[in-house]
Amino acid sequence: MLSTRVAQLVVFLICVNLIPTTPIVEERPFHAADGGIGVAVGKSRKRVFPQPHTQEPNPIFEAYGYCNIPNRTEQAWEGHSPADYKLLSVHVMIRHGDRYPLYSIPKTKRPAIDCTLSTSRKPSHPLLDSFIHHMGLGGRGHWESPLGSVPRLPSHSACEMGELTQTGVVQHLRNGQLLHHAYKQHSLFPSDWSPRQIWVETTGKSRTLQSGLAFLYGFLPDFDWTKLTVRHQWSTLFCGSACDCPARNRYLEEEQRRQYQLRAADTELERTYMDMARTLGIPTRQLRAANPVDSLLCHLCHGLSFPCVPIGDSGAGGCLTMEQFAVIRRQQLDDEVDRRRAGLYHKYAILAMYPYLNRTAAKMERIAKSSEAGRQPRSAGEEVFTLSSAHDVTVAPLLSALGLEEARFPRFAARIVFELWKSPPAIQGQVKKRSGKGEKSKAKYGETFIRVLYNGEDVTFHTTFCRSHDRHVSQPLCPLKNFLSFVRRDMFSVVNATSYKEACYRRPG
Ligand SMILES: *[C@@H]1O[C@H](CO)[C@@H](O)[C@H](O)[C@H]1NC(C)=O
Ligand SMILES: *[C@@H]1O[C@H](CO)[C@@H](O)[C@H](O)[C@H]1NC(C)=O
Ligand SMILES: *[C@@H]1O[C@H](CO)[C@@H](O)[C@H](O)[C@H]1NC(C)=O
Repeated sequence: MLSTRVAQLVVFLICVNLIPTTPIVEERPFHAADGGIGVAVGKSRKRVFPQPHTQEPNPIFEAYGYCNIPNRTEQAWEGHSPADYKLLSVHVMIRHGDRYPLYSIPKTKRPAIDCTLSTSRKPSHPLLDSFIHHMGLGGRGHWESPLGSVPRLPSHSACEMGELTQTGVVQHLRNGQLLHHAYKQHSLFPSDWSPRQIWVETTGKSRTLQSGLAFLYGFLPDFDWTKLTVRHQWSTLFCGSACDCPARNRYLEEEQRRQYQLRAADTELERTYMDMARTLGIPTRQLRAANPVDSLLCHLCHGLSFPCVPIGDSGAGGCLTMEQFAVIRRQQLDDEVDRRRAGLYHKYAILAMYPYLNRTAAKMERIAKSSEAGRQPRSAGEEVFTLSSAHDVTVAPLLSALGLEEARFPRFAARIVFELWKSPPAIQGQVKKRSGKGEKSKAKYGETFIRVLYNGEDVTFHTTFCRSHDRHVSQPLCPLKNFLSFVRRDMFSVVNATSYKEACYRRPG
């Protein structure tokens, strides 16, 4: 039972207007890094989208949501479908779990966090010991270069910069386990799955590789290493051989200019940076470059008090404060609103995520076609599960490209899931109602549909390609063809083009 105070808090948290904050480049100072949002709503149903209330967002509560502390049960709507629908494939993109900061705050002690894994430390997980043991056998797997030399477990008793923490590992063991249960009754995999049925890809950072492995272990405990190939994506956009796109870079530069100007015009933020720099006894410029919000978020997520410096003779000394942190976070929330207004980020995101979406669409179409032809779906040759282990600078543009611009900024261990479903073969009457021969033969074998979920919540009908879909009883899901025509043509209308090539290479007008 919730106490009244907790109940009030929960109500407040549900009502605050949550706005995500999106950095442009994760690993670079001057562009708000890894600032991010989510919300902790106790046991009540969490929502990915802000409620249409107009209360001021509370930057501190939102920061806790971003931490995604794994101390409560989560609701997951993955695997939910109308009766008799068959799950054909699942495509997951995750952000890595909780990590050590990428930057340190000058003159201060780095936060004391142990990145070795131990069941005696919190948060832990029932699978943690067997996961550690299984990773020790990783030499049996196939690793696309250079992944073979990336450590498969975090291991430093004083975390290195950007290293995945035990919290990060536990977050993804939980994610994987959640989906394991969600799909169990749909028997996505036969117990003797073949190597081609699973596609796992990651960037070359240890935190993404380790997050992907933790997820996979939760999903398929004690998986057979010899069947696994882990593929490398060198770009954080997962764009493979289609990364070249001059127009995308132009939109990004314009977006960064917008972001810079908004920040420069924020006098409260200026004052706050000056106060913080005075406390630390460093030039304001140096403090900005050190991107302090990244490190402060880590302190907050790990329950550590903010850093202090001894009082000196030059007026320096004291501690960084929650009030200062709140100002930086508030500005990040303002930036989110302005970012949506300007629309440049959305254009960037469309071009940035096309190659990934195109690849996903092609996989889905292949699977749909083979099941349509009446063949046994999920035959040993079909890829039924894809896992892409990525960064906030991957997940945020993917959300934007899908039209989920109101969605919260990707917290640690955020997940986007695409599910491909097939309806049961239609009965006579239904087939007749639809016109056209193609429709008829498709309906005979059942039709294919897509679901999109963000952090366990079904957001299918918030996406650009299904927002206006008329849901009705005979077709409660979003047709795959909506997604295919979106990816292959419609998404480029935002940039006045009909194809990726045209959009990328057209001369600026
Ligand atoms: C989870 O941790 C957060 C942050 O420390 C805390 O505010 C919250 O009450 C905890 N929730 C539960 C269910 O323990
Ligand atoms: C998009 O996907 C199709 C089908 O797989 C492929 O032939 C094409 O090269 C892809 N285009 C880009 C730009 O990635
Ligand atoms: C898009 O095309 C229309 C018509 O050709 C033109 O008026 C408009 O300025 C173009 N917009 C952009 C952003 O290029």
